[in-house]
Amino acid sequence: MSPFFRVVGRSESSDAAKGDAILKSWKNAIVVGASSGIGEAIAVQLAAAGTRVALVARREAELQRVAERIGGDQALVRVHDVCDGDDVAGLWDEIESELGAVDMLVYASGLMIPVDEHEYTFDKDRRMFAVNLVGAVAWLDQAAVRMEARRGGTIVGISSIAGDRGRRGAPAYNAAKAGLTTFLEALRNRLSRFGVDVVTIRPGFVDTAMTQGMDGLLWLISADRAAEITLQHARAGSGRDRHVPARWWLVSCVIRCMPSWLFRRMSI
Ligand SMILES: NC(=O)c1ccc[n+]([C@@H]2O[C@H](COP(=O)([O-])OP(=O)(O)OC[C@H]3O[C@@H](n4cnc5c(N)ncnc54)[C@H](OP(=O)(O)O)[C@@H]3O)[C@@H](O)[C@H]2O)c1
Repeated sequence: MSPFFRVVGRSESSDAAKGDAILKSWKNAIVVGASSGIGEAIAVQLAAAGTRVALVARREAELQRVAERIGGDQALVRVHDVCDGDDVAGLWDEIESELGAVDMLVYASGLMIPVDEHEYTFDKDRRMFAVNLVGAVAWLDQAAVRMEARRGGTIVGISSIAGDRGRRGAPAYNAAKAGLTTFLEALRNRLSRFGVDVVTIRPGFVDTAMTQGMDGLLWLISADRAAEITLQHARAGSGRDRHVPARWWLVSCVIRCMPSWLFRRMSI
């Protein structure tokens, strides 16, 4: 058991952790993309469980609102654009000088820009790769260096079921999420030897700003519920790659097994 983890008790029966598993908690976390949606819900739930949280994103007013929700001295606000990956090391140092050693990173920042059926706009695609993949790599690399050296910690990356296949409607978003899922798997394979858990989360549809205005979404869940399941998986320890909620795993298996010629005809 890593010195970074406090043992907080025995698990309640849950989707993610069953039986007698020992649950983890964290002293200090960084949540990137904490200004709304799933990242905000994760930050609030972590703080409610006693973790001090550095809230990172671009919209300062929204970060301040989340810090007020959390209250007390448990939240720290840092304005940052994930496209500025070179700033991450300095920012991490700054956060650690205020909070102490960070034993959890959650990367929740994400961007999905609608693209028209006949549209191939490099600028939109580049922005989606920058936020969903390159920015993630900047934070994940930084977490890996520090947590490997300290022999402990938890890294959570919010990927998506969208990364399972390349669809007509969202090529860059799909490809960036597929890249993120693969990068997280490689990190998990490298870091598990050093007591670092890397958790990949692939949500289905979640009711946030990202899905606003989209009708008829299958199995839509709230951001609070997505955060709750995500943290159950993280607390259960051992690196995982999980669909949220779990029933998306079956859909994902079917979609991924489908031959390319058939998937193409389905126009999804
Ligand atoms: N909603 C869904 O159905 C769904 C499904 C699967 C996966 N996901 C993933 O879940 C994650 C959270 O999304 P959400 O649904 O909670 O949507 P959201 O409410 O729009 O949250 C997106 C977050 O990303 C941050 N962000 C965007 N661009 C950024 C930038 N350049 N620099 C720093 N932060 C940036 C936003 O903060 P600022 O704007 O303040 O910078 C915000 O905190 C994303 O990775 C998304 O791809 C969502």
